[in-house]
Amino acid sequence: MAQEVIKIRGGQPLKGKLKINGAKNSAVAIIPAALLAEDVVTLEGLPQISDVATLVSLLEDLNIKTDLKDTELKVDPTEIKNASLPNHKVESLRASYYMMGAMLGRFKKCVIGLPGGCPLGPRPIDQHIKGFKALGATIDESSPTSMKIEAEELKGANIFLDMVSVGATINIMLAAVRAEGQTVIENAAKEPEVVDVATFLTGMGANIKGAGTSTIKITGVDHLHGVTHQIIPDRIEAGSYMCMAAACGAEVELDNIIPKHIEPLTVKLRELGVDVEIDDDRVKLKGQLPFNSVNIKTLVYPGFATDLQQPITPLLFLADGPSFVTDTIYPERFRHIEELRKMGGEISVDQNTATVKPSQLHGASVYASDLRAGACLIIAGLIAEGVTTIYNVNHIYRGYTNIVENLKSLGANIWTEKI
Ligand code: EPU
Repeated sequence: MAQEVIKIRGGQPLKGKLKINGAKNSAVAIIPAALLAEDVVTLEGLPQISDVATLVSLLEDLNIKTDLKDTELKVDPTEIKNASLPNHKVESLRASYYMMGAMLGRFKKCVIGLPGGCPLGPRPIDQHIKGFKALGATIDESSPTSMKIEAEELKGANIFLDMVSVGATINIMLAAVRAEGQTVIENAAKEPEVVDVATFLTGMGANIKGAGTSTIKITGVDHLHGVTHQIIPDRIEAGSYMCMAAACGAEVELDNIIPKHIEPLTVKLRELGVDVEIDDDRVKLKGQLPFNSVNIKTLVYPGFATDLQQPITPLLFLADGPSFVTDTIYPERFRHIEELRKMGGEISVDQNTATVKPSQLHGASVYASDLRAGACLIIAGLIAEGVTTIYNVNHIYRGYTNIVENLKSLGANIWTEKI
């Protein structure tokens, strides 16, 4: 892929409407889950991001026929074949770990490369492994680049997660839907994406109760059939645009949102002093400066999402006093701070808490270390004086559909340049 940078000349007010896309973190689990079906699955409302394209090509590596057009994907697994997936595609994104649970459910065996993803500090998958083992799998980790997971039989089990993990909850569900008997996941993640995956699997004929609570009960079935499923709206994409709108003042309307899913952010933006108006499936924002200083602590759902911690941070430079941001999910998710400092931001980090002081940002050359750090730098660029150049933008394209065009349509002075 040709390398490019995103450039932004800050200071333009944003005005207009955008439609929010389907949720990345649902899509990246549901695409692998589709391989559990014995006939055609249709997914609607997919985001147009590179993570989706990578997962589709992983399905193709298993001899699955796929047809991806814009936001719709048809998956035909009727001629599926088990194959090893120890390649660079697996390493290019974190969510490739969902191929483990899905292939274990379908074939009782998989050989797969180790998942990559955003560098947010340590991201172990011990709880996924613990779940697979409890269902009867053995894991061979002797290769430094791949893992072999195998079970003679998958048998339902009681699994108590040591920590609330979205990935482990979903991955265990994917294997347990084809296990014999009942699996109970305790201390399960309650994130909307977990519920979306459960809704999808239930539509295929799975028996899952309790998704969205901390106890999920799955009774295995022998057969999962095709289904048509609409992916839920992306609460993190919506939240990122809400932060952009709030930072740049004027009026922005976002369509295709689920108000409950964005509530933790809505509450925080209102505390900052942003005018947030919510309708059925729409949110309208109007930023009013200066903001009030606030404290933010990320927590599992329904707490404030770690994925919005970085995007909301630039708004805190516009507050009337110091604010504090604590990340309890990824205590090292602070690589954006060094970049914000290059832009004149008075920001420091101690352990898992950033202190953000009122500052006037100026344009600079900065690096997107990960997806949401990229969103953070775009917002910083939108409010900075002068031109900001963002490098490493492939991280941003992994998770945001047409972000540059979308912001242009709202009036931002933003463009890309090849390097
Ligand atoms: N954890 C473990 N062991 C495990 C699993 C998780 O120690 O086996 C720890 C993690 O290191 C982390 C915490 O538990 O400290 C929560 O991790 P979780 O498993 O919930 O995260 P994830 O499933 O790997 C998903 C999203 C992330 C999002 C987190 C938290 C996907 C593909 N990724 O990751 O999204 O930050 O949940 O909500 O769904 C993003 O979209 O930018 C992103 C990073």
